[in-house]
Amino acid sequence: MSLTVGVPKGALYDEAAARLRAAGIDAPEDPGRRLTCTTADGTRLLFLRPTDVPAYVEFGAADCGIVGADVLWESERNVSELADLGFGACRLVVAARRVDRYHEGAPFPTFLRVASKFTKSAEAYFAERDIPVQIVKLHGSVELSPLVGLADLIVDLVATGNTLREHDLVVVDEIARSTARFVVNPVRFRSAYGAIVDLLGRLDPGAAS
Ligand code: PRP
Repeated sequence: MSLTVGVPKGALYDEAAARLRAAGIDAPEDPGRRLTCTTADGTRLLFLRPTDVPAYVEFGAADCGIVGADVLWESERNVSELADLGFGACRLVVAARRVDRYHEGAPFPTFLRVASKFTKSAEAYFAERDIPVQIVKLHGSVELSPLVGLADLIVDLVATGNTLREHDLVVVDEIARSTARFVVNPVRFRSAYGAIVDLLGRLDPGAAS
């Protein structure tokens, strides 16, 4: 049975495609502007924005997919996480301007504004600590916001740390660690059990041993 797999474009793409190729599925080096392709073994790949992978899987447009845990934390979608694929490691952190010295324990202002793409995670973090905040949802280039007075703090992903360093921002606290996950549509997992387990075993040989 041929599967349809949601593949994230962006930071996870190269490693996800390499894993697929190692699993015998000839994913392209670069999907370019292609939206989908069918590989020689009949597997259909959907090239998706990372945040859209859970929706494609929940509604069965894809049987399964590869997606960062950070996307799953923010997603309300009903998908089953079958495995941690281990690559694409990054950290979700609270960060601020170095000059504000929050990383050295300087008190937060009374009215704290936090900018993030990860509003659910950010809200949970500050609520757990009983710190009242105003959360501002952004969709990218979050590191700009504390530099121009939009926010006191940001909640964002850090991989190499280069973006923070280049903007003289520092980590105030780590919220969570993320890696790429293999997710499935729960109904498809039953109806295509053999094909999905076989694919997972090839994508993540460690999981099968
Ligand atoms: C992510 C994240 C940081 C950056 C961190 O952004 O939001 O901005 O990568 O990576 P680094 O620690 O290796 O510098 P992304 O590239 O997804 O783009 P965006 O700013 O448009 O969200």
